[in-house]
Amino acid sequence: MSRRGKFITFEGLDGTGKSTQMRKLGEVLRAAGQKIVETREPGGTATGEKIRRVLLDSKTDGLDPLAEMALMFASRAQHIAEVIEPALAAGAIVLCDRFTDSTEAYQGSGRRLGSAAVLDLHRVLCGNLQPDLTLLLDSDAAASVSRARRRNTRASKNMGRGHDENRFEQEKRAFFLRVHEGYMAIARREPGRVVMMDARGTPAQTHAKIVEVVRRRLKL
Ligand code: TYD
Repeated sequence: MSRRGKFITFEGLDGTGKSTQMRKLGEVLRAAGQKIVETREPGGTATGEKIRRVLLDSKTDGLDPLAEMALMFASRAQHIAEVIEPALAAGAIVLCDRFTDSTEAYQGSGRRLGSAAVLDLHRVLCGNLQPDLTLLLDSDAAASVSRARRRNTRASKNMGRGHDENRFEQEKRAFFLRVHEGYMAIARREPGRVVMMDARGTPAQTHAKIVEVVRRRLKL
């Protein structure tokens, strides 16, 4: 049996460049001969991607915050069972764009459902699976959110299929400030797992910092 792999998550506000950084780290680790699985939440499985459509489409009206949190966890439970656990058991490095810290920051803090509810659900629905390392990309909240808004508006125009991924981007500044504060609280609580990365430099600078942290913390 192969040694258990490593689970690395990327977190941060919309538009901090998580996805780009994840892809670049994946390239480096793959070139170093590691088996890499890249995935994202909400989504990552066929069922999860359907749930993602419901969660992110700005036409999804009046979704109750508790229902929103339940759907995030439904997507995650399926993702863990179908993708993450099997990959870790096979010795792969799993790179995941968002995980339960997102639920704690967005639903727990942004929607004010509280951290305790999120952590309880994580224990029940996710077997309390913890990442080996979480890279929290931090940059100016207002700038990242407007970047995400521009990108999603472009993407929905190009799709022309009547759905978009703008539901969260339409939230107000106060919501994102709460989300940001939620992330800071997680980083303070779990310094052994969560590394805050200043993502205000160029993508290349952030990438170099990430590679350094991954080498040092996970000895990869
Ligand atoms: P994502 O596609 O990563 O957006 P971006 O690339 O803009 O960062 O995530 C989609 C949205 O879903 C994002 O606004 C954050 C939100 N989200 C939650 O509110 N809770 C969660 O548990 C997850 C995984 C995502």
